[in-house]
Amino acid sequence: MKYINNNLKIENLYFKNLAIKFGTPLYCYSHKKLKQNINDFKLNFKTFSPLICFATKANSNLKILKEIKKNGLGADVVSKGELMKALKAGINSKKIVFSGVGKTSEELSYAIDKNILLINSESKSEVLEIEKIAKSKKKIVDIGIRLNPNTDANTLKQISTGKKENKFGVNEKTFIEIFKIIKNKKNINLKCLSVHIGSQILDYRPYEKMLKAVSKLIKKIKFDFEFIDLGGGMGISYENNKKKLNYEKYNQAIKNFLKKHNSKIIFEPGRSIIGNAGVLITKIIYIKENPKKNFIILDAAMNDLMRPALYGARHQIIPITKNKKKSKKTYDFVGPICETTDKFLSTNNFQKLSEKDLLIICDTGAYGSSLGSNYNVRPNPAEILIKGSKLIVIKKRQKLKDLI
Ligand code: LLP
Repeated sequence: MKYINNNLKIENLYFKNLAIKFGTPLYCYSHKKLKQNINDFKLNFKTFSPLICFATKANSNLKILKEIKKNGLGADVVSKGELMKALKAGINSKKIVFSGVGKTSEELSYAIDKNILLINSESKSEVLEIEKIAKSKKKIVDIGIRLNPNTDANTLKQISTGKKENKFGVNEKTFIEIFKIIKNKKNINLKCLSVHIGSQILDYRPYEKMLKAVSKLIKKIKFDFEFIDLGGGMGISYENNKKKLNYEKYNQAIKNFLKKHNSKIIFEPGRSIIGNAGVLITKIIYIKENPKKNFIILDAAMNDLMRPALYGARHQIIPITKNKKKSKKTYDFVGPICETTDKFLSTNNFQKLSEKDLLIICDTGAYGSSLGSNYNVRPNPAEILIKGSKLIVIKKRQKLKDLI
């Protein structure tokens, strides 16, 4: 994105024209940025060429998944719906891993029929259920077990998954117990150890600790896993000047790990691939000033972008047209939904705004649209993908008649 004569552009198109043409709120993605993120991710770990399975939950738009596929990535899915979408996007089933703490028998059965690369299991009961289904289908199913390494990811507590009090994975003791059970089962084949300690991680040290825990367990059970699935979690910079994940250190830690263990690495990145490739365009409906606050009431709300309300996440907001009005204002950017948490941001140094002005909520490509809902019977926004001077509508604005 860049300003040309005070008007913000995405690739070769002006946001203002997009807002006029498609209305607001509007999700807008840059093809160039998506591609660049994928290439950067590959480059960061090129020495051991991992299998990169995009975490579909970050953005499950079919056209986005097709772009992901075109760039050679696989998919990490957590439901039958996501698996169906990944397959529909043309992603090879042998590049798909199925994660999640509560896969139903129907979901497992579907995944087994589709011959996906791995079902990463998170409990003894689930492993036994996979074995049962596999046996009934006379198949041998490749599985992973997710270790909970009891590692603090040093991120928001709501998106931390690798500590012992979190519901995810199994501890070392249970892992070993399951490992012994699997040895005597004919219809499941243990191929993978998986971990995922959380999301929006900006410190490489938790990853180092996670690898140590994995290494310790492997030494204990003396088993060569064909795959080590390290999950995703790589954080992005939502605010300028904030720290970035040190990929070199993470890469080095994995290289050291691989000196001792001969496995293929799988990653499941979501946010780092699509997060900063998308924005949400919104228009100011009203400005309401009271003695304490100046409220900018937007046409986007928490149903369109849930992260601030759900996690207190901060997304930068910037104007589509910069003005030269000198006065800087203090604003609370809120949505029109009847919830106090329907608030995006408080700022104290914003250009003076007027009703009907257009704004951009930045870095909303991941967990933006995919976390959207119809709360307050609000239709989901349209979504467009920009490719240079061209654009494709990748999701039509939902119609009220479909909600009623
Ligand atoms: N693998 C597994 C097993 C996961 O649970 C997740 C995310 C990922 C991979 C991808 O993580 P990423 O690379 O995107 O950090 N809604 C929250 C994020 C929840 C993440 C859930 N799991 C947010 O908006 O920040």
